[in-house]
Amino acid sequence: MDGNGRWAAQRGLPRITGHENGAAALRTVTETCCEIGVGCLTVYAFSTENWKRPPEEVHALFGLLEHFLAAELPTLLANNIRLRAIGRIHELPPTAREALHSTMERTASNTGMNLVLAINYSGRAELEDAVRSVCQEVAAGTLRPEDFTQDHLQRHLYTCEWPDPDLLIRTSGEMRLSNFLLWQLSYTELYVTPKCWPDFGREDLIEAVRDFHRRKRRFGGI
Ligand code: FPP
Repeated sequence: MDGNGRWAAQRGLPRITGHENGAAALRTVTETCCEIGVGCLTVYAFSTENWKRPPEEVHALFGLLEHFLAAELPTLLANNIRLRAIGRIHELPPTAREALHSTMERTASNTGMNLVLAINYSGRAELEDAVRSVCQEVAAGTLRPEDFTQDHLQRHLYTCEWPDPDLLIRTSGEMRLSNFLLWQLSYTELYVTPKCWPDFGREDLIEAVRDFHRRKRRFGGI
């Protein structure tokens, strides 16, 4: 969800106003994904590197997250959406962590789209955590190193319950992955749009999906 800060700066507004409009865009995109039958929507809301931002911005972002969860619960329930989170959630400020856990619990039995918030997430931290738990199995004697495979590692990722993403949408024109789902994106189709996230709406999402359907995916074959 990149470009909230630039969107605000272009309008002479505080950065947090950009994030507020970013949260509104997330609502629209979530509803559109539901409508068109997306099974899993994962959004990068806060990276392990985002702690380097000024404390006021970090504080405001977690406040916004809490507000978003409270405000959107009825919509999540009405649309049968299951909310999940990936990342080092145990390191979040307690009130944000509790709001997340409570929303996950309230939506746990929903059977429609999974909305996955990547918070205090990075691909490298995820791999570090996964490798650590594999090492623990080896140390405990429940896994022999010679039996270890990439499928095994995959089962230790935060995302183990979902397939790899088909499509990655990056807003604001940046041509990089920024430590997002490094393992899972191996064969994902990339779509970069110059629009900043707060301006990314229903039609933009539909255009990205149309573009995806024009791609020829070979997964290394011919
Ligand atoms: C990236 O834009 C955006 C973020 C780091 C925060 C995204 C958060 C929200 C949309 C709202 C809160 C979260 C939820 C789930 C409701 P940027 O700040 O890096 O923009 P810039 O590159 O233009 O400065």
